[in-house]
Amino acid sequence: MVRAVTLSGALLLLLYVPSTFAVKTQDFKTCAQAGFCRRGRALASRAQETASWKSPYSVDSSSLAVASDQASFTAGVKSSLYPDIKFSLDVRIHDDGVVRVRMDEVDGLRKRYDEAASWALIAEPKLSRDISWTVGKKDVRALYGAKKESEVVVNFEPLRVALLRNGKEQVVLNGRGLLHMEHFRTKESSRPEGTPEEGLDEEAQAVMKVRPMAWFEGETEDGYWEESFGGNTDSKPKGPESLSIDIEFPNHGHVYGIPQHATRLDLPTTTGENPTYSDPYRLWNSDVFEYMASSTMSLYGSIPVMHAHAADSTVAIFNAVASETWIDVDHPTPKSTNTHWISESGILDVFIMPGPTPDDIFGQYARLTGTPALPAQWSLGYHQCRWNYISSDDVRSVQKRFDEHDMPVDVFWLDIEYAEEHKYFIWDKKNFPDPVDMMHDVEALGRKMVVIIDPHLKRTSNYPVYQEASELGVLVKGKSGDSEYEGWCWSGSSSWIDFFNPNSWEWWKRLFKTTSQGNKWSWTESTDNTYIWNDMNEPSVFNGPEISMPRDNIHYGGWEHRDVHNINGMLLPNITSQALIARSDPPKRPFVLTRSFYAGSQRFGAMWTGDNLGTWDHMAAGIYMVLANGIAGMTFAGSDVGGFFGNPEPEMLVRWYQVGAFNPFFRAHAHLDTKRREPYLIDEPYRGMLRDILRLRYTMLPVWYTAFHEASVTGIPVLRPHYVVFPRDEAGFTLDDQYFIGGSGLLVKPVVHKDVTEIEVYLPEDQVYYNYFSHHAYRGSAKGKQVIVPAAIHEIPLLIRGGSIIPTRERPRRSSPLMKRDPFTLRVALDKTGYARGELYLDDGETFSHLEGNIVWREFVAEKTAKKSKTIKISSSDLVSKNPDAAVDGVSLTKYDPLNAFAKSVEGVRVEKIVLLGLTSKPVGVKVEGGDDLVSEFVSGVAAEGKKEGEASVLIIKDPGVFVTKDWTIVIQL
Ligand code: NOJ
Repeated sequence: MVRAVTLSGALLLLLYVPSTFAVKTQDFKTCAQAGFCRRGRALASRAQETASWKSPYSVDSSSLAVASDQASFTAGVKSSLYPDIKFSLDVRIHDDGVVRVRMDEVDGLRKRYDEAASWALIAEPKLSRDISWTVGKKDVRALYGAKKESEVVVNFEPLRVALLRNGKEQVVLNGRGLLHMEHFRTKESSRPEGTPEEGLDEEAQAVMKVRPMAWFEGETEDGYWEESFGGNTDSKPKGPESLSIDIEFPNHGHVYGIPQHATRLDLPTTTGENPTYSDPYRLWNSDVFEYMASSTMSLYGSIPVMHAHAADSTVAIFNAVASETWIDVDHPTPKSTNTHWISESGILDVFIMPGPTPDDIFGQYARLTGTPALPAQWSLGYHQCRWNYISSDDVRSVQKRFDEHDMPVDVFWLDIEYAEEHKYFIWDKKNFPDPVDMMHDVEALGRKMVVIIDPHLKRTSNYPVYQEASELGVLVKGKSGDSEYEGWCWSGSSSWIDFFNPNSWEWWKRLFKTTSQGNKWSWTESTDNTYIWNDMNEPSVFNGPEISMPRDNIHYGGWEHRDVHNINGMLLPNITSQALIARSDPPKRPFVLTRSFYAGSQRFGAMWTGDNLGTWDHMAAGIYMVLANGIAGMTFAGSDVGGFFGNPEPEMLVRWYQVGAFNPFFRAHAHLDTKRREPYLIDEPYRGMLRDILRLRYTMLPVWYTAFHEASVTGIPVLRPHYVVFPRDEAGFTLDDQYFIGGSGLLVKPVVHKDVTEIEVYLPEDQVYYNYFSHHAYRGSAKGKQVIVPAAIHEIPLLIRGGSIIPTRERPRRSSPLMKRDPFTLRVALDKTGYARGELYLDDGETFSHLEGNIVWREFVAEKTAKKSKTIKISSSDLVSKNPDAAVDGVSLTKYDPLNAFAKSVEGVRVEKIVLLGLTSKPVGVKVEGGDDLVSEFVSGVAAEGKKEGEASVLIIKDPGVFVTKDWTIVIQL
């Protein structure tokens, strides 16, 4: 329901107001309502029903040319349906084994959109030097890899591409013959006559007599030249140009990824009986109001990346397409998966990542599209948002109340009401008379502000941002291509910046300068600690088709919106993050939150899962959506704590904070119509619980930051699902309600149901796991085992995997920058052999000086001096010198100096406590090697090395007098 509301007696707003929670499915297309999807699915059904089905596409082997570098070849491709239409095939093998398969139409009536990969990739991938293609009569093939374990085979007729490992097929393209690149045509030439295919069965031959192509393309020109939906007509001036490809994983029974959908991590089949999953997964960035917690409908962002997993192999696909795409998933057997990708336009540009492990895939994908940016450390703290904090005094009073209640918080957010008439950047001076002073008040306690900037510009002459954009000609054009497209959004009649136009980039960056730019407009009423939230960038257009832009709108270069839609949203945070870097000297790390995203968006900032509902279902969905985003690169992710819509009861709010505290991005947010629900407003005992959760998050910031550092180097996500950590454990392949945090060894299972007092947690191995809070030792089993963990409302099921060392900072502070010099606690959780290891990464948390080696990266190890020894040593050593290549993303620190400027600035930072779990007996001596005896307390309990369950033995070493930047060893004599 849309209704007009007056806020603060001044602003007339268009608001979505939830009546009952129900998505308006009728606002969004099903596959059957999208011509090309209907055609693609019908093609798949015909193929299934026709025993003699054969792909009409074949490689013209006479045209095959292997490049001089040997790593690639090109060849012509023909379709027997349209002998005059030419296609080209280009297959390349990268130096890390990734295979790229491209196919385009050659000399067509028009050019197909071929720039999706260039927006996603960080650079042109390096090709392998280790390839030699063997061209045979029926195929061309190449064996490669260290042990020649990988092979690519391209069959000529029909065209079929397979990647094999050790002779076993891993990924097959066009194995079912569903490849179809609808060539450009004129209306008149749309249906040329042809000759019936040989070898078709009788029924197909009969159809062919009437319509020669019909056995393949169907009998009607279904939605070729114009389509209408929901009262909007798409003029489709280019006619049909869709692209369909089947991708099989013959030896993989589970597929994950292709975010964003509110669905389980292990993607359910879409071709079975389940009505919830009767449509293919859709990728078409959309502002879906009150989305469902379980659906294949598209949401705000699209990453066409899919992992396929089996116990002995993980492979993955990145299908670099930017147009609307639908993906059917089917399991012909429990151990195999068929997928069918149907896109509205674009070329075929598929990257096959060979694995063979999930971690290898993360590396391969990161080499293509980049690793997640290392965020500013403060952005891992708690973010307080609401639509809206209505005035600068409101912001000040919220900050005051957090402090009065001893609740840590790093960031206060301003939603759209700060902006006069929703003209972003322009303060509504009635309510925000002193924005810079307000910011400084927030900054005084080390905190930051995030302010929303949406991509729609109010079309009015008193808005310099719109005026300049219009004069520069950088606004998206309507279907004529001459005039600015006009649509409706928060600011009323609006136009949209076309960030595909390079002329917009420097202009946009200038707007964020906090200093005067002569007679040009810039945001002088902001500070270097003002960060940005980019919303509505799908783009959301209230009166547009499916709440977005018409597909026949025109972008820079003459491309239609349909060609670029799924990339469109990522350009705003891309250029905005560059603007934030450029505004200060020395530059600071940017923070930009985006709602819409595409492959590669991980380089620009964080995302959140949009307008979730205050329901238990949505709380659960948030977890598996964040996991799915993470495996597709977008690891800095979270869902609105509390649920955007609705007024959560206290129990739900507490549980939601527990979920949020274990999300990479931790922000509470609420719709304009909801009751205020800042954590200090709730009654006791819940208020105390929320305070404890916030403090726990701050305690664990070193764990989060270390995990982000690893992600920024390796691409391995911060939240790690079971199949990633235990790729061989089949029982973990469907798990998405418990996960590991980075490589820390912390395993969490947030409670997402009402009235829970205990919960089953799955342990995947024969190992001891300790309850983080009670130190209770649980025993796993090699076959996998469920254990019962207490989970009353104030309890979070959080376990430490035996063998881990967890660094924390346990002094409550108001914000994370105030913790910079706080001492550390190390929780050493011995494994069943008496060993443990952990890492800690630190830098200044806000500049780029880490790229010059201003970092501290430590390894902590606890181990016995010999197998049966009664001496255990806990030591700290420098990891950078051991691993200069892995210290900072893309930079090798071979000349690293352990006494770098940052290390010096924290050289006084102590380890104030060591908590050692699972010793076999009370030590007779504890001392620093080469130093004095230390004070320690021992509480006897279960040993790591035994079989018993129960409270673990705990040794607490108080103030061991060692420093976090230094090498040291503590000797424990049993
Ligand atoms: C939609 C966003 O998803 C929501 O978080 C925000 O509060 C509103 N737009 C208003 O800006």
